Amino acid sequence: MIDVIVVAGARKRYGEKRALDGFDLRVERGTVHGVLGPNGAGKTTAVRILTTLLRADEGLVRVAGLDVRTHAREVRRRIGLLGQHAALDEDLSGRQNLEMFGRLYHLGARRAGQRAGALLERFGLTDTGRKAVKQYSGGMRRRLDLAASLITDPEVLFLDEPTTGLDPRGRAEV
Ligand SMILES: Nc1ncnc2c1ncn2[C@@H]1O[C@H](COP(=O)(O)OP(=O)(O)O)[C@@H](O)[C@H]1O
Ligand SMILES: [Mg+2]
Repeated sequence: MIDVIVVAGARKRYGEKRALDGFDLRVERGTVHGVLGPNGAGKTTAVRILTTLLRADEGLVRVAGLDVRTHAREVRRRIGLLGQHAALDEDLSGRQNLEMFGRLYHLGARRAGQRAGALLERFGLTDTGRKAVKQYSGGMRRRLDLAASLITDPEVLFLDEPTTGLDPRGRAEV
């Protein structure tokens, strides 16, 4: 069994505030793993460390077999992230957002277009793909955000509170 995520003894403080105080986690490849905790428990901090956006003060953190501290670039190539807050451009259409993400991840224009089309279809957004995101409902936005996090077909996908703020129907959609 290969663990795609391994965290051992991770610590992180912001000044005097201890956000993570000996965090351990193992996640098997090919599984969906949820981490629960109240507001302020350190979930976003953990996600930020796992996705190389933040450095742990101490501890071992490996993603897809790579140490996030020494192999941040390689880790970034293999992961997707759906942040706690949407990262969409409101004035662009759904399709344009996905194509932009594709280009930011260095997919060529053709490949970015293909991925955008496939993901719009997969998330039931083909019909609305040409509308500006500011006209989207909460559930549609989150679905598009999720589609964007999958643009590179990542090996590991991190979702930080993917359904917070959505009504029951929006949650079910995501
Ligand atoms: N940039 C920061 N500076 C200072 N304190 C922070 C910062 N980010 C988070 N914290 C604090 O660290 C703790 C963990 O926060 P966070 O990881 O966002 O928790 P969660 O995502 O589980 O709600 C909280 O007490 C929060 O106030
Ligand atoms: Mg959080």
